[in-house]
Amino acid sequence: MCGIVGYVGERDISSVLLVGLERLSYRGYDSSGISIISNGELSTWKKQGKIVELNNLLSGLSIKGSLGIGQTRWATHGVPNEVNAHPHFSETKKIALVHNGIIENYMEIKKRLIKNGHIFRSETDTEVLIHSIEEHLETTDSLLEALEKTLSEIVGTYSIATISEADPEKIVIARKGSPLIIALGKDENFVSSDINAILTHTKKVIYLEDNEIGYVTKTSTFVKEIGGSEVQKEVKVIDWSPTDAEKNGYEHYMLKEIFEQPSVIRNIISKYIDKDNNITLSKIHQPNLDISNVNRFIIQACGTSWHAGLIAKYLIESYARVLTEVDISSEFRYRQMITQGHDIVMAISQSGETADTLACIREAKSKFFKVLSFVNVKESSIDRESDGVVYSYAGQEIGVASTKNFIAQLATIYIFSIHLGLAKKHLNKEQASEMIQELRRIPDYIESILKKSEEIRTIAEKYCFSREFLFIGRGVNYPTALEGALKLKEISYIHATGYAAGELKHGPIALIDAKLPVVCVAPQTLTYEKMVSNIQEVKTRKGKTIIIATQGDEDIKSLADDIIYIPKASEDLTPILASVPLQLISYYIALKLDCDVDQPRNLAKSVTVE
Ligand code: M6R
Repeated sequence: MCGIVGYVGERDISSVLLVGLERLSYRGYDSSGISIISNGELSTWKKQGKIVELNNLLSGLSIKGSLGIGQTRWATHGVPNEVNAHPHFSETKKIALVHNGIIENYMEIKKRLIKNGHIFRSETDTEVLIHSIEEHLETTDSLLEALEKTLSEIVGTYSIATISEADPEKIVIARKGSPLIIALGKDENFVSSDINAILTHTKKVIYLEDNEIGYVTKTSTFVKEIGGSEVQKEVKVIDWSPTDAEKNGYEHYMLKEIFEQPSVIRNIISKYIDKDNNITLSKIHQPNLDISNVNRFIIQACGTSWHAGLIAKYLIESYARVLTEVDISSEFRYRQMITQGHDIVMAISQSGETADTLACIREAKSKFFKVLSFVNVKESSIDRESDGVVYSYAGQEIGVASTKNFIAQLATIYIFSIHLGLAKKHLNKEQASEMIQELRRIPDYIESILKKSEEIRTIAEKYCFSREFLFIGRGVNYPTALEGALKLKEISYIHATGYAAGELKHGPIALIDAKLPVVCVAPQTLTYEKMVSNIQEVKTRKGKTIIIATQGDEDIKSLADDIIYIPKASEDLTPILASVPLQLISYYIALKLDCDVDQPRNLAKSVTVE
């Protein structure tokens, strides 16, 4: 979703802002713009479409200046066009502002401002902010004070950066419910909604918390609570490398990330398991979080992370015998939660910034639930606000469609469930050790699947012109089927539905005809025979079957129009293995259809609005 970048310093200002915006582009956007104060005068450039359009607009211009802000916009209020693009500027064109988030009460504020003579140009909620600041600047010279007064009237979420000709040394910033950081350089400073925009410049950052406002100059920073006093902020050093954000010779980030999966699992094993197969999850045993006497987990997550949550339910209930509910965050947050005591709310999130997931943990904490989170991005809001955390260690994921992070979530959930099973004494050390040995084999198994990528590509291309797909699976592979369908929808825009195979007869079987490709996730698990019967039902109705089966399973071949074998593994690890060919099928179909694989239309990597 929208991304903010700001810079104050002596580098080439437009290129710092453009490169920053480019590094935010993976989040998904539909327009972009920058404002720069040059020779005391503020100028703004905006363009609909890709950042290259903005770059073309700026090319040939010699822009001097040492202060500027920029934004990639993902449209919510108002279509993607130049007028609605950020930065928005004041009537006098002397103040500019970028905003991520949603101003919920903008209509009533807009009415008041219009009555006071303000003329609105855009359809956005954001524009009220700039007019309101301008109005408050009639009674104060301080941009920070004008923004603070504006925010006192605002209901909604925001990260904001604003600059003014009257104060050409400062970028004034504020945060509530949408991330914002200050990044510190030598005689230069940056602001951004996302570490990626500044990672090549510095690793020293300050995280703004909700309800904080402040400013950065070339050599100083200041942060206070909105309506309160100054806050001394801690400077943190990030341990990521910008090379994570390169394609390393792959055509797309998504393909690179699919091929990184073996090393992701090896890395997770090295982080959490020692050579004697002992598990250490240091950040879940916090003084205020006791997982050993948990009675119930309530998992809440969105999208791919929700699919990981559905698999977590199988593993936690099976290894630790702890009742586990799974809910979609946007549903959970408006449900009346029943507290029974010793319940733990579990949030699963790659970005750690998903608005609905974050809102749920805040709601849960207000009702005295403890919160344990599985997150990939360290120091994200969900990481910082949880009582305990398990990091996914997937490295930075740039492709909007989640791949290596899903696999990392499944591996960490597997390790966590074994750990809990031991703590609850439902597993013994030998069983746990054998289960860990199974996990150790997985990276090699994934590598063997990746070696078949050309074979998978041929199968994918055979079906790429079908306008709909059905994905079916049972048990732990029912969520795998859901995830396979989501991947295909996201990047190829083909309608795909995931179903529990046992549900076919209760409705979706009506869809099956000779034209419908049905992807059947059918490794040899407990429900294998049942799954074979379900595939038989599809075949009888002439559906085209693409079967993911266990290596050596010759019997199932007779039911398959196409078959992709995965190595034999423990049942609970088959979702990891089966997901790899499903990811590749989606990738190659999207590639053949010439879709924007890494930045699919309408999607955002980090969904920071409700
Ligand atoms: O960052 P999160 O894991 O909280 O994101 C949740 C979903 O928005 C995300 O998984 C989404 O479904 C992806 N596009 C899946 O590929």
